Amino acid sequence: MQLKPFLLDMWLAAYEHDIEFNLAASEGPRWTLNEILSLASEQQRERFLNHKLAYSRPAGADGLRAAIADMQDVSVDTVQVVTGASEALLVLFWLAAEAGANVVLPQPGYPPFSALPESLGIETRYYSLRKENEFRFDLDEIKRLADRNTKLILVNSPHNPTGATISDAELDSLHEFTASREIQLVSDEVYHPIYHSQYHVQYHGQATRSASRLPHATVIHDFSKAFPLSGVRTGWMIEHDPKRRELYWNARTYFSISNNTAGEMLAEIAMRRRDIVLGKTQETATRNLRQLASFMSEHGETLGWIPPRGGLTAFPWLVSGENSRAFCQAAAEQGVLLAPGDCWDAPSHFRLGFAAMTDKFPAALARLGEFVKSWSAANVTKA
Ligand SMILES: Cc1ncc(COP(=O)(O)O)c(C=O)c1O
Repeated sequence: MQLKPFLLDMWLAAYEHDIEFNLAASEGPRWTLNEILSLASEQQRERFLNHKLAYSRPAGADGLRAAIADMQDVSVDTVQVVTGASEALLVLFWLAAEAGANVVLPQPGYPPFSALPESLGIETRYYSLRKENEFRFDLDEIKRLADRNTKLILVNSPHNPTGATISDAELDSLHEFTASREIQLVSDEVYHPIYHSQYHVQYHGQATRSASRLPHATVIHDFSKAFPLSGVRTGWMIEHDPKRRELYWNARTYFSISNNTAGEMLAEIAMRRRDIVLGKTQETATRNLRQLASFMSEHGETLGWIPPRGGLTAFPWLVSGENSRAFCQAAAEQGVLLAPGDCWDAPSHFRLGFAAMTDKFPAALARLGEFVKSWSAANVTKA
């Protein structure tokens, strides 16, 4: 069994810790332990400091599951807590790995979407989010790719890295299609509910609703992106089908037994105060995206982009069509980290995460702007 190299995380590991301006990160603004504890009641803080460092329950701590169920508007028994959305993906692809099975996935997509099923010997089929189509989900293409051996269709909305979103009507249509063929519909919603409809009112108008409302869909979500507490390593699945839930529960008892208890308690505090935590992510994303939009129009001769409809990342490209790795390397030398598009098999693109930074974001864009000008001046000279 072979796992292909995780190019994105290799790139991030090489640069992320020493860089002055990190525009490669895909999360919202960071929180300290102190800040999260300041959102807790006195009783929650006491419980946190005195809790026993033992295994938690495999389905997740009761209080956390209840808080998640409240946000997702589902019953508590549909909630399975996992060690990040990463573990949810591992569980789902593991269970899909039957002889002759195929899965339908977005391209570009979060790299484990392809690496996990490929390593398990599952046939992978890709639908494209193309810039020529404004990164829209093409439902006809998705449906054409499916056949009677399709075990799972995955959508990720808001999408990493493009910021594309699927509309409620599109999700309903896909749900009907998959349910009638007994294909599992997986909705990766780690960027929900961060939306930027001000840029795309003509298409979708409003935010998309969670797939948790759909009886045959499986939702995966986490505390790493819209809830930007990636250090708590906590995620969740919403599953209405009790038979599938038993399989998830069994798989996770093998993979990780339970979550880390401190992470679960911090996640519960953040979930119960989600108005504040999600509010900060949305506010930072909205403010920074406005600045990014004017940056992009200023540098339109060198950089193309489609404004994200949701989430915390954009996927611009070099208008010249060249591979962006050298561009990203040179930008990193000037103190600005971007992520090269070849990590997603889209070499002329790069990912720009616009919501991890708060006060320093304008300075990051100013530095990137100087770099882009010098890069394009050097390229004109070469031509
Ligand atoms: C779309 C998507 N899904 C899942 C994950 C996994 O995140 P985590 O394991 O931190 O929940 C990520 C992380 O970048 C992601 O971008």
